[in-house]
Amino acid sequence: MTSRRDMSKGRRGFLRAAAATLALSGLPSAAHAARGKLRIGIVGSGRIGGTLGRIWANAGHTVMFSSLDLEHDKALAASVGANARAGTPREAAAFGEVLLVAVPYHALPSVGKELAELLKGKVVIDTCNPFPGRDGEVGIWAQKKGAGLASAELLPGARIVRAFNAVGYTSLPLATQRQPRAGMPMAGDDAKANEIASLLVRDVGYEPVVIGPLVKGKYLVPGTPLAGERSPEEIRRIAATLK
Ligand SMILES: NC(=O)c1ccc[n+]([C@@H]2O[C@H](COP(=O)([O-])OP(=O)(O)OC[C@H]3O[C@@H](n4cnc5c(N)ncnc54)[C@H](OP(=O)(O)O)[C@@H]3O)[C@@H](O)[C@H]2O)c1
Repeated sequence: MTSRRDMSKGRRGFLRAAAATLALSGLPSAAHAARGKLRIGIVGSGRIGGTLGRIWANAGHTVMFSSLDLEHDKALAASVGANARAGTPREAAAFGEVLLVAVPYHALPSVGKELAELLKGKVVIDTCNPFPGRDGEVGIWAQKKGAGLASAELLPGARIVRAFNAVGYTSLPLATQRQPRAGMPMAGDDAKANEIASLLVRDVGYEPVVIGPLVKGKYLVPGTPLAGERSPEEIRRIAATLK
C-alpha cells in the first residue's frame, strides 16, 4: 500500500520534474517553478476561469485574470487576494508561463488572432467546448473537426492541453475533498505540456489521466462517455474503447 509519506515524496519528485521541464523548455521563472509554483494567465475569467484561477491562487500560484471587462477582473482579483491580479488578455498572455483559455468557443478565433505571437510555444490549457447553439458556425465547424484539432488550428503554435472540459465549474472547489480522487481526462500532443498541465490538475484535486494526443480532444466535451466525474481507472478503461 502507498503510504502518505510515499505520496508526498512522489509529489515532490513530480514538482521537481515539472520545474526541470520548465527550465529546459526555456520558459521564464525557473526559480518560481522550482517551488512548484507557476505564473498563470487566465483568458476568460467567467465561471470556469474565475473558479480555477481562485483555486490556483489559493494553492500558491500567481494568476492574472483577463476578459473583455477589466473592472470585473480587478474586482475578482481583489476578492481572491495577494496571488491574483488583473489585466488585458494580452497582458495575461505575456504574464503567464501557462495560460488557461476559458472562453465561449465562438471567441477562440479572435483570441487566437489577438494573442497570436504570445501563444507561440506557450502551454495552453483549453477548457473550451464548441456548441453550435451558442457558438454558431465556429461551433459547427469545431464539432465536425473535433475540439482538440480545432483549438490547435485557432491557437496556432500553442502547446495545447485539453482539460476541465466536461466537469461543471461548481464541482471544482470540492474536488480535493473527494477520496479517492476523481480522474481528469486530458489530451495533448506535447508531453512536457501535458506534465505541466497535470501539475495544475493535481492542485485542483484531480488525478490527471492523459487519454492521448489532441485528436482525442473530441471526446473531452460534454455528452461523451468521458463526461462527468469518474475514477482514473474508469477513465482509462473507457478511453481504451474510443478510436
Ligand atoms: N461552465 C462550466 O461549468 C464549463 C465546464 C467545462 C467547460 N466549459 C467551457 O469553458 C468555456 C468557458 O465557459 P464558462 O462557463 O466559464 O463561460 P462564461 O462564464 O461565459 O465566461 C466566459 C469568459 O470569457 C470571456 N471572454 C469572452 N470573449 C472573450 C474574448 N474575445 N477575449 C477574452 N475573454 C473573452 C468573458 O468575458 P466577458 O464576461 O467580459 O464577456 C468571460 O470572462 C466555454 O467554452 C465552456 O463551454 C464550461
